[in-house]
Amino acid sequence: MFYTTHTHIFTWVVALILFLVAVYLFKAGNAKASKIVHMSLRLFYVFIIITGAILFIEFSANNAALYGVKFIVGLLVIGFSEMVLVRMKKSKSITGVVIGLIVTLLITLYLGFRLPIGFNFFG
Ligand code: HEM
Repeated sequence: MFYTTHTHIFTWVVALILFLVAVYLFKAGNAKASKIVHMSLRLFYVFIIITGAILFIEFSANNAALYGVKFIVGLLVIGFSEMVLVRMKKSKSITGVVIGLIVTLLITLYLGFRLPIGFNFFG
């Protein structure tokens, strides 16, 4: 279950949905519901890291450098998504962190799908 990428993909897809719901609820003026969704999202950060780390430990010998970069940008995605939500709640500017989130997310998706395990869209 943890040595295929399915569980890992499930955790980050759920996290992405929770992130969008938390943003939507906050913008809709429902700060309390947004906070609950944000707490659930934080739990999913942990699941993403655990499932990613298991894959990393098992497979990184294939290509240590690229797996290392995948690990780091994966963590950056989580960092940026957390910064977007926290800064939004504090009414601070989020342009920079939103760009950071999009860029690191695209790099992570590209590397994940390029690396040998699971789906291999980029050959
Ligand atoms: C929100 C953050 C993350 C996203 C969107 C993401 C996305 C992905 C994607 C798309 C794959 C490829 C799945 C497949 O080919 O079937 C993948 C695989 C993987 N991820 Fe993540 N990931 C994230 C966070 C992390 C973190 C934090 C780690 C490390 C702790 C990590 C480690 C890995 C490893 C080792 C693989 C296997 C690579 C391979 O296909 O050979 N990921 N991830």
